[in-house]
Amino acid sequence: MNIILLGPPGAGKGTQAKKISEHFSLPHISTGDILRENISNNTSLGLRAKSYMSRGELVPDELLITIVKDRLSRKDCSGGFMLDGYPRTIPQADALQMILTESGKKIDAVLNISVDDEELIKRLSGRRMCKCGASYHVNFNPPKKEGVCDACKEKLYQRDDDKPDAIKNRLVVYKKQTQPLIDYYNRKKLLRTIDGSKEISQIFEEVKNVLEEYEKL
Ligand code: AP5
Repeated sequence: MNIILLGPPGAGKGTQAKKISEHFSLPHISTGDILRENISNNTSLGLRAKSYMSRGELVPDELLITIVKDRLSRKDCSGGFMLDGYPRTIPQADALQMILTESGKKIDAVLNISVDDEELIKRLSGRRMCKCGASYHVNFNPPKKEGVCDACKEKLYQRDDDKPDAIKNRLVVYKKQTQPLIDYYNRKKLLRTIDGSKEISQIFEEVKNVLEEYEKL
């Protein structure tokens, strides 16, 4: 199965992606994680991406298209993949279509996780991260010991783009540049909208049911 997770910042794409990846044994390709890894390794890509990301702007399409083309060509994607955070613009979606057509693949499902702005702001402003990749929320998904990762015991931190001004900008950018993809994939009859305002486990049950339908096709 080849899946795209669509949704505004903070909708829970990363949270659901981890569960989907484990349950359906699909590689989880998060362009945000790839970019953050490049930033922490001080690569030239990371240096170019950093200022866009901390302002809550999108990183230029040509960089993302190259990243995704390379990642999808790896062996672990031959049996399917799940894209989280890509595409985010119509040119990125068109490029993905071309990349997949060239390799005889197609998208099977696009899951659009829908959550209102007020809830998104609460989720993003309370999110805390660990450098091991674990993600928490101060109220909705707190670590056992405040400020410390359950898994590796490192100190948790707040992403630069989870600060108030960047959050506001990310929501504006999402509406302008990414929301049009809802129509784009709806027209292709690939879109399924999931209510992302419920509890994490309830959302995953719905996601699982939807994806199991696709698996049977
Ligand atoms: P990226 O890392 O992709 O960020 P995002 O899309 O803004 O998404 P988030 O990671 O903020 O949220 P999420 O939906 O994954 O929610 P999560 O599960 O963490 O991108 C970052 C930046 O990189 C972009 O702004 C851009 O600059 C750049 N970039 C990346 N891809 C790009 C592309 N294709 N093109 C151009 N630029 C690109 O959950 C959020 C919080 O809520 C967590 O604390 C979680 O515990 C909590 N939570 C989750 N679900 C629930 C629930 N059901 N109830 C209560 N709390 C919940």
